[in-house]
Amino acid sequence: PYVIAAACIDVMDRSCIEECPVDCIYEGERKLYINPAECIDCGACEPACPVSAISQDRRVPADQSDFVADNARFFDAPLPGRDEPLGMAGGAGAVGPVGVDTELVAAYEAG
Ligand code: F3S
Ligand code: F3S
Repeated sequence: PYVIAAACIDVMDRSCIEECPVDCIYEGERKLYINPAECIDCGACEPACPVSAISQDRRVPADQSDFVADNARFFDAPLPGRDEPLGMAGGAGAVGPVGVDTELVAAYEAG
């Protein structure tokens, strides 16, 4: 799957959302996340991002590698304040903004 890494944090341009044919890019509070179980690896989102936050999981820069697991964690683990994981949420449009982030992103400080 494709992965959204640190550059999206607090930018959230959202151009990627319009490109995704399966609507698998979900909105947290500070960042967006690609559901690896729903992404079909089409790559359409990558060039749409003005800050180059998106890449295929195999090509995520080494210093951003935590974000591969973290995109999955947004769906597989219960988020702060929620009892159940999002899981196969069935489309970001139907879910709407989730309003919380993973611990990695919530605690992230730029620089
Ligand atoms: Fe984030 Fe880039 Fe999409 S900043 S919301 S990954 S277009
Ligand atoms: Fe969508 Fe990007 Fe995957 S456009 S299907 S999230 S490669």
